[in-house]
Amino acid sequence: MVEIEEIGEGLRMERIGAHSHIKGLGLDENGKARVVADGLVGQVKAREAAGLVVLMAKEGKLSGKAVLLAGPPGTGKTAIAVAMARELGEGVPFIQLSGSEIYSAERKKTEVLMEAMRKAIGVKIRELRNVYEGEVKELDIKTGSSPYNPFIKVPQEAVITLKTTEEEKRIRVGPNVARQLMEYGITEGDVIMIDSKDGRVSKVGRSTESFSYDLEAEQIVPRPNGPVLKEKEFVYVLTLDDLDRMVAKRRGGGIFSLFLGVEEKEIDPEVRAAVDRQVKEWVEEGRAEMIPGVMFIDDAHLMDIEALSFISRAMESELVPIIVMATNRGITKIRGTDIESPFGMPLDLLDRLVIITTDKYGEDEVRDILKIRAKEEKVNMEEDALDLLTKLGAEKSLRYSVQILGIAGVKARSKNREKVTKEDIEEIAMRFSDVREAVGHLKKYEEELLK
Ligand SMILES: Nc1ncnc2c1ncn2[C@@H]1O[C@H](COP(=O)(O)OP(=O)(O)O)[C@@H](O)[C@H]1O
Ligand SMILES: [Mg+2]
Repeated sequence: MVEIEEIGEGLRMERIGAHSHIKGLGLDENGKARVVADGLVGQVKAREAAGLVVLMAKEGKLSGKAVLLAGPPGTGKTAIAVAMARELGEGVPFIQLSGSEIYSAERKKTEVLMEAMRKAIGVKIRELRNVYEGEVKELDIKTGSSPYNPFIKVPQEAVITLKTTEEEKRIRVGPNVARQLMEYGITEGDVIMIDSKDGRVSKVGRSTESFSYDLEAEQIVPRPNGPVLKEKEFVYVLTLDDLDRMVAKRRGGGIFSLFLGVEEKEIDPEVRAAVDRQVKEWVEEGRAEMIPGVMFIDDAHLMDIEALSFISRAMESELVPIIVMATNRGITKIRGTDIESPFGMPLDLLDRLVIITTDKYGEDEVRDILKIRAKEEKVNMEEDALDLLTKLGAEKSLRYSVQILGIAGVKARSKNREKVTKEDIEEIAMRFSDVREAVGHLKKYEEELLK
């Protein structure tokens, strides 16, 4: 059995701050988009299409396929991908990477993609363990001299009386458990759990039965019922990548990784195969459940032919997340070749794409989106500030005005002002360029240099 406590980071999820207002696709029971719902505004056709894709995924009909969101910048491609993950359910992993991120000096791009893919697949593991659980009624820790330093006292054993509503049990524990009891500062009145096999101690909280003036915000829990020694079910959600790392660590990276903390850059394919076998076994035994999440690859046209073929191949395998890609390119060269192709993708991949297009927003939609964002960031705005921001959003880009809004909020707060004014927006917009302006700016210099 895996020692789950060694990682304990849960799901590592990509930060998706700019999309925190999105709670789902905002569809009704018939899969029709409500104009404004779940934090999403407009883009009706794309949202409804995304809803169908989610249905397909839930029924397992998406295998061998991937989704491509195609549309100009700032038309909600990332937003829709986030919404799809939300629709799939709570705790469904969402991993975001850009087509340019897969190129690094240290790692193979297929390795980067493989890792991302495994981060996007969750495994819910159910485990029955025998534990001693109860309120500590008496605790006696015996110490003795350390074998390494006779002047230091270390815990050697402990005798604990644990009490439930039903019974009382006295147990003797060895140095490993005694040390944990001391480290966690366990005292009478605490409710604790000790794993009968590996001796791991966890403090559940403070028993309601024990009166205390402790001002610290401690979890108050009832005295457990049932017997002291019992079988309990634990549920963990880990990703395939978490499991890979745990197994790789256990197999050992040699003495160097122990002392220098050198992390292995790449995980052995054999480790992954072993994890897959194990997970499949757990699923068959009913001890685990797969939670495929969303792997979102932004700017997918930046992937080269090798990376794209890897994706094509990966789509065929059993343990695969829902792959959602996004691009703002039409016909362009497939990177690493001289071939022009739609979205810069090879034909065999194009054949398996479910394509969803997103359109530019009108002013009304931009305004609604900005209002939702303002609420999400707890920013109050004067009406003419919103007007200006809307204009900037429609003229330049939505992403740009969402950014300006965020900065304006921070500024107003730092000045202790209630509301963001039109002047704030003007000032900030003057200081920060959008992409087009910045590019134009650099071009000017280039031209001067060439003179
Ligand atoms: N239809 C929408 N409803 C609500 N918010 C949206 C919508 N479309 C985009 N946004 C928000 O606007 C910003 C820019 O959109 P984004 O999804 O990054 O566009 P893209 O990925 O197409 O470049 C983000 O903060 C996003 O959450
Ligand atoms: Mg995007």
